Amino acid sequence: MIRNAQKILNQVNPLLRNQVRTVTLSSSNLSADQAPKHEIKNVTIIGGGLMGGGIAQVAAQNDFNVTIVDAEDEYLQKCMVVIKKSLDRITKKKFPNERKGSAKFVEETLGKIKTNTEVEVAVANADLVIEAITENMDSKHKLFKAVDSAAPEACLFASNTSSLPITEISEATTRKSKFGGLHFFNPVPMMKLVEVIRTDETSNETFDALYQFSKDLGKVPVMCRDTPGFIVNRLLVPYMMEAMRMVERGDASAEDIDVAMKLGAGYPMGPFELADYVGLDTTKFIIDGWHKKFPEMELFTPNDTLNKLVVDGKFGRKSGEGFYKYGSTK
Ligand code: CAA
Ligand code: NAD
Repeated sequence: MIRNAQKILNQVNPLLRNQVRTVTLSSSNLSADQAPKHEIKNVTIIGGGLMGGGIAQVAAQNDFNVTIVDAEDEYLQKCMVVIKKSLDRITKKKFPNERKGSAKFVEETLGKIKTNTEVEVAVANADLVIEAITENMDSKHKLFKAVDSAAPEACLFASNTSSLPITEISEATTRKSKFGGLHFFNPVPMMKLVEVIRTDETSNETFDALYQFSKDLGKVPVMCRDTPGFIVNRLLVPYMMEAMRMVERGDASAEDIDVAMKLGAGYPMGPFELADYVGLDTTKFIIDGWHKKFPEMELFTPNDTLNKLVVDGKFGRKSGEGFYKYGSTK
């Protein structure tokens, strides 16, 4: 299969020669007796929104000690409510006829999670810090500067960014070798994939620890170099943007495009449902950032409809309205 993919790539573009093989050879193939050297027990997740809450939940479900950090206590409380609701959904399947087992699982998982608004305090004992704050380079730099000076020397750092270069985020720290990307997917409790991103500076030990951590969460890790959008978003975001352009051109309605992609391509959500699900603010941050960096790439052109919705505070599901209206905000 790999040999075939390589052959086709070589025919299409000789510049890509060896790329498939290189990636395959350098992706981690840890066996059980080759556990990574860096042990992870205490995980601090910064940003208790859609993604941070999900990552925290899955880490706690898998027995890690978790601390979630957000700017306001109110956001942290909201995050805990979302986690509780998600755990309730999961326990319905896990313990269909056992109310006691279900309550115990929820209680034990919630008991593994602490919250804090003071980032310096929250990272003081961390083995791994995962950043899941708003998609903005200045904010991420400011945060990682503070985290770098407060976290133990051995602590590893990861960003869950959708679109920003991990290398550039890591530049705010003095530990680029201990920095990588851990890109989870929304909704984290359901989506099995984690993209593990290594920069030119990420050490093997860091990469192996992040890869193993993803497995310990019950996820399937894949490796990708530090390229715009990694694997999934490099394909998914231009697709969502083209769907918006189709509606602007009058080719089809948003509703029909969603139906078409679900029933004709077997996708679980159409592009407009998905954009609302990801968050239109996040989608706009992604496309605007790429456009600024790669203005010649037509696929990365910002979109007026998306811009207007965001200016109007219509961020999708999380705010109650985006391309569609929602009864409840979560
Ligand atoms: N917590 C716990 N369980 C959840 C959940 C959550 N947050 N969300 C959904 N579920 C469970 C439900 O309880 C349900 O379980 P059962 O089937 O056992 O009853 C199951 O998931 C299916 O949910 P629903 O019936 O409510 O709805 P659905 O069948 O449409 O599935 C979905 C929901 C899993 C979200 C599915 O629509 C889907 O896979 N959508 C695509 C999501 C996607 O593409 N995500 C990636 C976005 S891109 C990204 O994340 C990267 C980025 O950087 C932007
Ligand atoms: P969100 O808006 O739901 O949550 C972000 C949270 O971070 C908010 O609660 C906010 O109060 C908090 N925050 C902002 N600045 C902070 C700071 N300095 N300190 C502490 N908390 C801070 O966003 P999200 O959708 O969870 O996205 C978070 C990150 O994950 C982004 O980088 C995004 O690109 C990425 N991501 C998003 C998705 C998605 O589908 N939404 C998927 C994968 C990755």
